[in-house]
Amino acid sequence: MELDWLLAPPLPEAVPRQQVLYRRLREAVLTGRLPSGTRLPASRGLAATLGIARNTVLFAYEQLVAEGCLIADRQGTRVAELPAAARASPRAVPALHVPQVLSARASAAVRREPAGDDEALPFSPGVPDFGAFPFRAWRACLERAWRDAGWRQLGYAAHGGDPSLRAALAAHLGSARGLAVDAAQILITSGTQAALDLCARLLADHRDTVWVENPGYLAARVAFGLAGLQVHDVAVDAEGLAAGADDWQRQRPRLIMVTPSHQYPTGRVMSLPRRFALIERARAAGAWIIEDDYDSEFRRGGPAPPALFGLQADAPVVHAGTFSKTLYPGLRLGYLVLPRPIAADFIHAAALATRAGQGIEQRALADFIERGHYTTHMRRMRARYSSRQAALRAALQQAFGPGLALSGGEAGLHLVMWLPDELDDTGVAARAAQLGLGVRALSAYTRPPVRCNGLVLGYGNLDEGAVEGAVARLKRAVGG
Ligand SMILES: Cc1ncc(COP(=O)(O)O)c(C=O)c1O
Repeated sequence: MELDWLLAPPLPEAVPRQQVLYRRLREAVLTGRLPSGTRLPASRGLAATLGIARNTVLFAYEQLVAEGCLIADRQGTRVAELPAAARASPRAVPALHVPQVLSARASAAVRREPAGDDEALPFSPGVPDFGAFPFRAWRACLERAWRDAGWRQLGYAAHGGDPSLRAALAAHLGSARGLAVDAAQILITSGTQAALDLCARLLADHRDTVWVENPGYLAARVAFGLAGLQVHDVAVDAEGLAAGADDWQRQRPRLIMVTPSHQYPTGRVMSLPRRFALIERARAAGAWIIEDDYDSEFRRGGPAPPALFGLQADAPVVHAGTFSKTLYPGLRLGYLVLPRPIAADFIHAAALATRAGQGIEQRALADFIERGHYTTHMRRMRARYSSRQAALRAALQQAFGPGLALSGGEAGLHLVMWLPDELDDTGVAARAAQLGLGVRALSAYTRPPVRCNGLVLGYGNLDEGAVEGAVARLKRAVGG
């Protein structure tokens, strides 16, 4: 058999002969140039034909035998029987045979959601003031964490998270949020998103119903949809989640996701009677409430309303918090506070499900909290965000006059500006985007039959000096 072509020029530079021989043989098998059953010469014979060492041939043969392209037995070496698909060149595979990239469940969960642009533009919601981040103090904590690190910190994080961070958080939540919790109830997560994902997978079964607020947090819908849950939208009113008898009877929930301290995105605060009623009804329905407490740290005019968690003994509530707003989103650290009866099982399952990491960052964060940097930073940011909001309100008032309707300023980093019906918020947001603004349309967070028409204006990363210019651009986008 003529096999000179196996090492015929041109030979690629800097590629060892054995690799060239292996690749060419493999290609010949896959393209059918060497059909199934073809007997190849003995290694010594081929080595002589090609003028190379026998070992070079042996390497290529052994590699291809290991891959299943060749078969070696007592009779020698021959080309294996390969399925037609392995022989077809990639271009020859008909498009229909390419498997769908995402599962049907994943496609359905992400289909309607825009891939959020993570750029921090003026008015982009949810972005903290990056310029005010205490780099020096944080760097010192990170350096200390690395200096003290042993090999343990290089492995997966401890179950539940770094013990010092869990303890520091328990103390912090006691003093700042009035939550009487101990470290064993705290699970450190990679932000709220991972916490929601865990709740969906550990507290509900496939196709169980999860309630989300309408309008509500889009990323939560995605997490629940991806976990195979049925997402049911429940309207919100001025007092928060407004579930009707129909919702309770026909859409019995297993999970109820709420943002009671500062409804996202409308900014409303859930009233105390609504909180008690929700806990009562959830208890009766055998549902878990997920309390997403994403920005109550930046509460204006007094302390945040009491969390649902701890409002009543043994309430079926898990409480999620994040460092995305108080520090920075790229840190990817958040936490779940779990009721005592489920904490150990939940944390055990979470450890198996996620194999958490970031041990060093967790240590640094514990140090950051223990040294008082966290409280100081938040105090500073609370004042800063308050004056930013005041500046924004004043500029909006000046630009849009007495018809201006704002809501959601009690906490957090964004305001909602309601638009009259004749102005379509999607169109305004698109025009604003062309002017370099990160404004979001309120309707994007809404599902029918609920209708909302307005703009979500993030001001966390909007310098006071830039407010007027940004509002002038917004006015152009609105068409004034
Ligand atoms: C309602 C809501 N919850 C939670 C978060 C924080 O999510 P994560 O901790 O995954 O960054 C955000 C951030 O934008 C949010 O808007």
